[in-house]
Amino acid sequence: MQESLTITDNRTNTRHEVPLYKGSVRTMDLRKIQTGPDDFGVMGYDPAFMNTASCQSAITFIDGEKGILRYRGYEIEHLAERCSFLEVAYLLLFGELPTSAELKEWVNTITHHTMIHETTKKFLEGFRYDAHPMGMFISTVAALSTVYPEARKVQDPAVRHLQICRLIGKVPTIAAYTYRHSLGFPYVYPDNELAYTANFMNMLWKMVEPKYQANPILARALDILFILHADHEQNCSANVMRSAGSSYADPFVSVAAAAAALSGPLHGGANEEVLKMLDEIGSKDRVPAYIEQIKAGHGKLMGFGHRVYKNYDPRARIVKWTANQVFQVTGRNPKLDIALELERIALEDDYFIKRKLYPNVDFYSGIIYQAMGFKPEMFTVLFAIPRTVGWLAQWQEMLQDPEQKIARPRQIYVGKEARELMPIEKRASRVASLTE
Ligand code: ACO
Repeated sequence: MQESLTITDNRTNTRHEVPLYKGSVRTMDLRKIQTGPDDFGVMGYDPAFMNTASCQSAITFIDGEKGILRYRGYEIEHLAERCSFLEVAYLLLFGELPTSAELKEWVNTITHHTMIHETTKKFLEGFRYDAHPMGMFISTVAALSTVYPEARKVQDPAVRHLQICRLIGKVPTIAAYTYRHSLGFPYVYPDNELAYTANFMNMLWKMVEPKYQANPILARALDILFILHADHEQNCSANVMRSAGSSYADPFVSVAAAAAALSGPLHGGANEEVLKMLDEIGSKDRVPAYIEQIKAGHGKLMGFGHRVYKNYDPRARIVKWTANQVFQVTGRNPKLDIALELERIALEDDYFIKRKLYPNVDFYSGIIYQAMGFKPEMFTVLFAIPRTVGWLAQWQEMLQDPEQKIARPRQIYVGKEARELMPIEKRASRVASLTE
């Protein structure tokens, strides 16, 4: 039997049966509820998508209450423990884990797309010495669109596939070059003999040695962090990727748009903010006073809280474990003690308990990255590399979904009714302030 809701319209005293689709109302069905033939019909109003599904997706599953995260049905903990990042990328994009032959071919393909055009290198050189790496990353990814104009054929599956491989191959190279640029060091070409994260480390840190040797514990830690960050269903940046891509913009500019959304401090930019916050707190004994300040409404505890997780972010647990592995190589980051104290006090505090605020993935990731030698400005770029896979998986799914069209929300207009335009000499100033 078709499940449905019965809605009584008190304006007209009529009853309407609205079918349920997988427990949800298709808000287009509400449009049939009208006061008369000229009435537009009922719309859904949901700023910030608090309770609106914008698509159907088979990629990532989250149960925020239980703290569960799965990619294509596999628990994130199992993937982080047993797979490589490129293996997980294959899973996210194509729906199944690869066989060893498939993985070999996939790794080979991605490896052969790591080079960037020399003109793109020159493009990067044009940035000021102190340009923020995320700004350089976003712009350079967008600039790839000019190098590969065929990418605009987004409905051609073979063209799409090629751009997906190019993007996954090139984002670590661009990220490493933004880092080298900010240090004033020459760019290092990719090394095809190295695995994905080891090659990334090579492009970041190789100096004059003939062959870069990545520390295997650090390379694996980076691989795990990349797995954890690869996708997270309909978050802010994935929504931007789908929205930009829905106009058939090419994947390079769409990924750049998604990366721009990621850069904000409420999203992927939070990892950089966490480090600034820990610096500001300075020592463990100042944590209680800092928490009191947050509770009094002065700012937010960065790296805490999540729209979906209301129990614990399962990624944060794995990040904490990874931190211990990294510290065995790099030595303990003293910021960890402040972070642990913040977590301990916050988790016992009524303010945070009531609002279900727990550490999210960004709370500990910055501490690891800093121990590995990254400046905080690089943290969000380190998030964008793996998330490129998620954005591309979401983009591909959107393009293949027959129900999707150009994304175009409705609005409730609350502005002025039609009015006369006064000549400039007859206008009185009505704007109190242009900046409020
Ligand atoms: N510190 C203190 N109070 C907080 C925090 C925080 N980190 N997060 C939420 N709150 C409070 C809000 O002030 C609000 O309180 P109120 O009910 O008294 O008004 C309540 O908790 C609910 O918070 P909302 O902002 O409504 O929750 P929303 O789902 O819109 O926001 C978000 C989620 C943006 C992640 C928020 O928790 C936040 O800003 N956290 C800090 C930034 C951060 O760490 N972002 C990374 C998220 S993970 C990611 O994007 C990869």
